[in-house]
Amino acid sequence: MNIPITEGDDFNNPDFYRSLWRQTTTTVALLTSAAEGRENVMACEWAMLVNLKPLRFVISVAPREYTHQLIQASGEFGLNFCSDQQAHLAHIAGSYSLHDVNKWELADFPTHPAQRIRAPMIQGCILNAECRVVARYELGDHDLFVGEALWARYDPKQRPLLYHRGKYWKLGEGIPKPQV
Ligand SMILES: Cc1cc2nc3c(=O)[nH]c(=O)nc-3n(C[C@H](O)[C@H](O)[C@H](O)COP(=O)(O)O)c2cc1C
Repeated sequence: MNIPITEGDDFNNPDFYRSLWRQTTTTVALLTSAAEGRENVMACEWAMLVNLKPLRFVISVAPREYTHQLIQASGEFGLNFCSDQQAHLAHIAGSYSLHDVNKWELADFPTHPAQRIRAPMIQGCILNAECRVVARYELGDHDLFVGEALWARYDPKQRPLLYHRGKYWKLGEGIPKPQV
């Protein structure tokens, strides 16, 4: 198949920016939040560790998401990086909104109470971090929240869930590091 390489600066063209976005590869997190008497969970591919001392993560969340409202109101979020056994949970959390439904009733999200924040945390993940918001930056159609970890846990037995070209993937073969 001869699929052409595409390049340009036509960033207002949805075909261009959506295709470009599909070439990126990310992990997937379940972002949990609680405020105003409501708890929620959403899928978040734009989440990563960005600082070690102090331990800080960033998440990028569109203001239209209900989760955004809950994070703004509480100043906290739970970051639960999915294992490769949790694609179905990510898909439900990312396909429905608390604007319309209570997602906790759509699937059996295995939760445990957090140690330091109000939002529940998700079991079976590779990494969980309970975060307090320390900064927010408006990027355009998304806001970047910087969260400082107040409590974290990890399970080395789990392997990460990946997201690429709109599909879920498992980690493939490792590549040996070259001798330098
Ligand atoms: C795999 C996957 C990853 C996603 N990543 C993000 C993301 O990084 N940021 C974001 O704002 N929305 C992301 N979404 C979309 C939200 O999860 C989705 O709009 C969800 O319905 C929002 O739920 P809420 O309104 O209950 O907060 C993603 C969806 C999927 C399926």
